Amino acid sequence: MRIAVFNGPNLNLLGIREPEIYGTTTLGEIESRLERIGAELGITLLFSQFNDEGRMLDAIHNCYGVVTGALVNAGAWTHTSLAIRDAFTAVQLPYVEVHLSNIYAREPERRHSWLAPGAIGIIAGFGADGYELALRGLVTALRNQGADA
Ligand code: DQA
Repeated sequence: MRIAVFNGPNLNLLGIREPEIYGTTTLGEIESRLERIGAELGITLLFSQFNDEGRMLDAIHNCYGVVTGALVNAGAWTHTSLAIRDAFTAVQLPYVEVHLSNIYAREPERRHSWLAPGAIGIIAGFGADGYELALRGLVTALRNQGADA
């Protein structure tokens, strides 16, 4: 089973970006932890991070037929982009939405997600650990739905 892990704008700066909100774990460290869990679960992970929304849409399109599911932290696009949800829907790619912070306990403009209505589930507020929780939840859900391996 192949799982894509998408990170959106500014998440390349994890580690130095507002550590009081997002913690000090870097995106590279998060991806290394996910790699270990991926090996444990017997799945293949494909990592990408984008500061350009069009490129992220293209990358979602490229998953068509070759990727079983996705984790996505769309960063600020969570609160602005119906196009990202539409892209996942268009290529029939099930996804779990991840946020390091609890977006529902933050400023009003962060309390709405355009991705949430299409997600299998959402993990928010557990910092970097959320990616691990989301990956385990996604793989369990896909296997329960009869996905390969
Ligand atoms: C975030 C929350 C968003 O509101 C913010 O724009 C981010 C990170 C999170 O992981 O908590 O870039 O998605």
